[in-house]
Amino acid sequence: MTQQQITLVQNSWGLVSTIDQVTVGSIFYTRLFETMPEVRPMFIRSSIPEQSKKLMTMLSYVITRLDRLDNIIEEVRKMARRHTHYGVQDHHYDAVGNALLFTLQKGLGNEWNPDLSEAWTSIYQALANAMMTAQHDGQEPAQEKRA
Ligand code: HEM
Repeated sequence: MTQQQITLVQNSWGLVSTIDQVTVGSIFYTRLFETMPEVRPMFIRSSIPEQSKKLMTMLSYVITRLDRLDNIIEEVRKMARRHTHYGVQDHHYDAVGNALLFTLQKGLGNEWNPDLSEAWTSIYQALANAMMTAQHDGQEPAQEKRA
């Protein structure tokens, strides 16, 4: 991800943030559950509006700190470990990324363009890779040796 992509994403996120969070979340989750219905039962702990707010808050947190990702890697690791408990696996990340891009495209309307699409893809991929790596690192060995 380049500095130019970070700036593009931060500016476009500023626009998305002016849209009602629950509306944005509802586009995102509707799309996600349409494309990957098997993840629907994982979302049982909170209502979709609550979940949407949490997701938007976390995305805002990450996006405002993209140029200093190293500083928030510990937060990302903790979040990734919680995702292991939710039952999230590597193959789920692409569908979530696609639902996010779909939501941004809908939310940004005429502002959406190929450069933005590429910038968001690159940044989501960096975040998803960091989360997947942390999930793998946090996995218990299959059999623990007894001392
Ligand atoms: C970069 C990618 C992602 C980000 C930034 C993200 C962010 C979040 C946040 C902020 C929460 C709120 C609770 C918490 O912090 O633990 C959450 C919960 C959750 N996420 Fe993610 N997530 C990502 C990827 C995924 C993927 C790939 C899945 C797979 C379907 C997923 C499934 C869930 C589930 C099941 C919950 C709990 C829902 C509930 O409370 O019922 N997330 N996510």
